[in-house]
Amino acid sequence: MCGIVAALSHHDVVPFLIEGLRRLEYRGYDSAGLATLTGQHLQRFRAVGRVKELEEASAGHAAPLGIAHTRWATHGAVTQDNAHPHRSERDGRSVCVVHNGIIENHAELREALRERGYVFASQTDTEVVAHLVHEARGRTASLAEAVRMARAQLRGAYALGIVCSDDPRTLVVARQAAPLMLGLTAHQQSVFVASDASALVSQTQTLVYLEDGDQAVITQVSESSPVVVRIEDMQGAALVRESTTTSLTHDDVDLGPYAHYMQKEMAEQPGAVAATLETVVGAGSLAPGLFGSEAEGLFPQVQRVLILACGTSYHSGLVARYWLEDIAGLPTSVEIASEYRYRKSVAEPGTLVITISQSGETADTLAALEHAKAQGQQLTLSICNVPESSLIRASRLRFLTRAGPEIGVASTKAFTTQLAALYLLTLVLAKVRGVLSPGAEAEAIQSLRHLPAALASVLTAEPEFQAWAAEFVEKEHALFLGRGIHSPIAMEGALKLKEISYIHAEAYAAGELKHGPLALVDANMPIVAVAPNDQLAEKLRSNLEEVRARGGVLYVVADQGAGIEPSDGVRVIELGDHAGALSPILHVVPLQMLAYHVALARGHDVDKPRNLAKSVTVE
Ligand code: M6R
Repeated sequence: MCGIVAALSHHDVVPFLIEGLRRLEYRGYDSAGLATLTGQHLQRFRAVGRVKELEEASAGHAAPLGIAHTRWATHGAVTQDNAHPHRSERDGRSVCVVHNGIIENHAELREALRERGYVFASQTDTEVVAHLVHEARGRTASLAEAVRMARAQLRGAYALGIVCSDDPRTLVVARQAAPLMLGLTAHQQSVFVASDASALVSQTQTLVYLEDGDQAVITQVSESSPVVVRIEDMQGAALVRESTTTSLTHDDVDLGPYAHYMQKEMAEQPGAVAATLETVVGAGSLAPGLFGSEAEGLFPQVQRVLILACGTSYHSGLVARYWLEDIAGLPTSVEIASEYRYRKSVAEPGTLVITISQSGETADTLAALEHAKAQGQQLTLSICNVPESSLIRASRLRFLTRAGPEIGVASTKAFTTQLAALYLLTLVLAKVRGVLSPGAEAEAIQSLRHLPAALASVLTAEPEFQAWAAEFVEKEHALFLGRGIHSPIAMEGALKLKEISYIHAEAYAAGELKHGPLALVDANMPIVAVAPNDQLAEKLRSNLEEVRARGGVLYVVADQGAGIEPSDGVRVIELGDHAGALSPILHVVPLQMLAYHVALARGHDVDKPRNLAKSVTVE
């Protein structure tokens, strides 16, 4: 959560800072700020609200060096005083700091700094960093050394960008358990910094990823000299970090012809799933190597599966449980990462611990993985969409979904690509266990080949879901129903709706209705039902009858042949034929489209719902 950009250049960096923040705004969007250093003149601009407010506040300003931040509040309310950059100013020296992450020992540091005469202007944890660097800079001649001295006192996670009025043409950045990368340009005219590559690709694709503990000192001897970078460890010794060329392009993060990123990302699902499956559908047979070089040796040891994730990624785990148990015969449990990390559980040998995350930076998922490892779980696999993420580095085995950047806070293409990956995993494990015949393997690969086209066909029904959305605009509550492998799809539909439309939505396995939730049903309660034409179709039909008998209006997303006819109080949109095991991947798309159009009709900012941020990097 929160986003950082910074730069030192021969040119004015303010347009880059503003554009970079705009790219990162999805990570936090309650306030934004920037600080620039021209010679020894440090200037700060901050605004509550979106980046466009900051753009207006800093209009006409130009500078060769700057740091900038977009915030998702953790410590302290959404106010201008709490917006970054935070400043420490005293004895003619001014230090400004931007920070992602959390300083865990900020309370004790704050107390000690107060005793030493520092006055606090905000409630944030970050302000202690500004004062610590300011204090240390009074005791050493170098900003880099001052930052190291300050960092030695910090506990927690941080990506930092720091400038000081005593140090013209100097920018110091540091990383500890929060992503930070440098963007390099030809001829060393500029060095850019960001917490996410999407903010850099408008300038360069040559990136250097900092590692935990690293500090980068970016300097220029004079205005016309090259901008140089020195990467150092905590003792100040130089480190070598290789540069890589990212495949991410400006177009990947551009909105293009779409009105919202969520709309773009829903539409990208056929291509994202095709990219995720590319190597498999071409090959015609499945191999453990898809999940990492060690998989061939490790998969035969797997006797059960434990899946850990949050939010939408947790829902993909719930779907996968049905596949893993049914197709691969592996006992599977799925846990919310934020609960598992604090639970005393019994570690069983032979457990494949799977963590699933779009971002790979979700604090609870990372902590859950560490908790599992600390309990002796050796077999770890991450399914993730971001190649350079912390999660990918923390597991022995990995599978990268190839959804491309997901920027809308509501997860869409990440979910369908995770499901595609989990289905592949199921097939590979089933094969390793000798329970997938060559015929079944060939048939499964054939159905995967068809999946992108099937997704594209579901997307064409968008106008029908848009029409349904108009009937939800005035509602305050909604129920989502599904059965079997589609009950997690109902949960995902309810999450999508509540997250962006702010309508209270709950999901139930349809058979559970008469054990309580049926009491909620009346003419004001819309009920969205996921109705595949599978072995539970008849049972679901009875559940829906019970709802209809209580006056509830039904919105049914049905496969052809599911036997649910439209009638008074029963709206039905038909998809294609039942897609077998892959059916959940198709049935979630209508629920995404419904949530999108309801949120739009209610006038909400679909990509940046209130109180949320894309990547939850704090507990
Ligand atoms: O990046 P992750 O997949 O680990 O994120 C997990 C959840 O925070 C995320 O899926 C969240 O629930 C989405 N905003 C839901 O649309």
